[in-house]
This record gives sequence, structure tokens and C-alpha cells, in this order.
Amino acid sequence: MPSPRRTLVVLATGGTIAGRAANAHDNVGYRAAALGVDELLHALPGGPGLTLETEDLARLDSKDMDHATWLCLVQRLAHHLARAQVQGAVVTHGTDTLEETAWLLHRVLAPRKPVVLTAAMRPASSLQADGPQNLADALAVAAAVEARGVLVVLAGQVFGAGDARKRHSWRLDAFTAGDAGAIAAIEQGALRRFREWPSAEPIGLDGLPADSSAWPWVEIVTSHAGARGAGVDALVHAGVRGLVVAGTGNATVHVDLAQALQRAQAAGVVVRLVTRCAAGPVLAGRDHRWPVYAALSAPQARVELMLELMQES
Ligand code: SIN
Repeated sequence: MPSPRRTLVVLATGGTIAGRAANAHDNVGYRAAALGVDELLHALPGGPGLTLETEDLARLDSKDMDHATWLCLVQRLAHHLARAQVQGAVVTHGTDTLEETAWLLHRVLAPRKPVVLTAAMRPASSLQADGPQNLADALAVAAAVEARGVLVVLAGQVFGAGDARKRHSWRLDAFTAGDAGAIAAIEQGALRRFREWPSAEPIGLDGLPADSSAWPWVEIVTSHAGARGAGVDALVHAGVRGLVVAGTGNATVHVDLAQALQRAQAAGVVVRLVTRCAAGPVLAGRDHRWPVYAALSAPQARVELMLELMQES
């Protein structure tokens, strides 16, 4: 029996994939988020054979991603994924904060249908534009009936939301999944899968305050040589609710910073640790003074702590 899920939804948020420069040689001095979603799709020679529905949710350079746009994205995805005819969704996004958005969507929605984030390292106007191929690959993954969960597709690879990291500032294969490796590759539009799709218990839309300005304030601080506690004291004074500390090595913290963090904790601020290392988890067995998010990047951990604080209030 043919699948009744004949629709793919494509939600655009901006990024380099929708960027345009004055000339085709300029891969740096372009304006991100210049094109709408229909213009991106017109650049493709064909589609995945399903009905496409499109929405321009935002036109952001993703360095400026904000909680209001996140809330809108989560709400639109929840709406569309609940429709019986929808097979999956593609979200076009900037690469710079893509791993944070992916983690938020994974934790809140953990969908049984595929939600595929894609992006580009070159603007649409470039001689080397990678957006059309990435978008075509993302559509192919979203159209695959076996696919599920929040996925990231770039440069022919499919990553799980929690594993994806931007590791390079300009290469086309800027993303990695570190030790975890890719979930699948896309070869000539076909999926070759290496391991299971991501799954989790979703927090659900009801777990998010409907007013994004009420989302708890969480900041990232980094431990480093010569670290001082005054910055943490200032954040506490300003009303921060949570601090993610990107620690050295196995999430260790400079003694002066650690003292300030203890003062912060005594004032009611919630502290969590991650490693500032680009790859590798934080290993248990060491007497960490604060709970650790072992396998999250610092920006993902900021999302995680925000969600944790939302569940408490
Ligand atoms: C952005 O993140 O919006 C700009 C950079 C990119 O997409 O690569």
C-alpha cells in the first residue's frame, strides 16, 4: 500500500545557503539570508517526487538566532509533523548556530518523522555553491520513509542532532560527528545507513514557556589560563539563572573561576560543566564539583540547561 505521507515541509530560517554576494568569486563578503525558500528550491533540477510546502520563517544570519525564532520553529514543526500527510520536514539554517538549533529540536520534539536541518558554507551566488546539493540531499533524507529524528545533512553526510559540530570555518565539509561518526551517507540521492536513527523521550511543546522572553537566562563561561571570577560575579549580579562552564580537558576549572562559581551556586545559580575540547566526552570517575553534560558542546549544553531550568519552574 503506498504511503499516505506525500508531503514534505520546507521551513527556511536564512543562513549562507540563502546568501548572495556581489560576484561569484566572493565567498566571504556576502549577505546571508538574502533569498527566500522558493528561490532555493528553484535552483534544484528536480524534487523528491513529493508535494513540497514551504514557509519563510525567518531571514537570519544564524549568529543572530534568537529564542523567539526558535519557539516559532518548534511550534511550526510540531504543527506540521502532527499532520498525517506530512512525511518529514527540512529546515534551512545558517551553519554557525545549527548544532544548537538541532539540539533544541531533538530535545523538545524527538520526532518519529525526519526533521532534517541543512545549510551551506558558500552563498548561493558562489561558483562553489554547496547549498543546492545539500538541499537536494536533505529532501532525499526527509523523503525516506525509514528516516526519523532530528538530523543534520551537509556535504553528503547525515549526522545525529547531538553529534553534529561545526569544526571548520570555511571548508565545505565543515561538520563532523566526532567519535560517533555519521549516521548515514547520501550517495547519488540514496541513503547508506551505518547506525540507528536518533531517538529520545521528547520534552514536548508544553514544556516551553509560550513567551520566549521568559526563557531562563543561561550563559557560557570558559575556563582558561589566568581566568578570573569577576565576570561570573557580574553575571550573578545581573540575574543570570544558569552557567555552563566550558572547562579544560576533562572539564576541570581554574581555581579562581571555581571560587566564583561556588559563590554563584550559593546565590541560587545552577552550574553545569562541559569540556572546551573540540572532541571527546568528559569521563566519569573524577570528582567534578558540578554535574557534567558529558557529550554536549558548550552551546548545546546552554540549551540543555535552559530546558532543565524550564522543567523546574
Ligand atoms: C549563518 O550561520 O547564518 C552564516 C554562516 C553560514 O551559514 O555558514
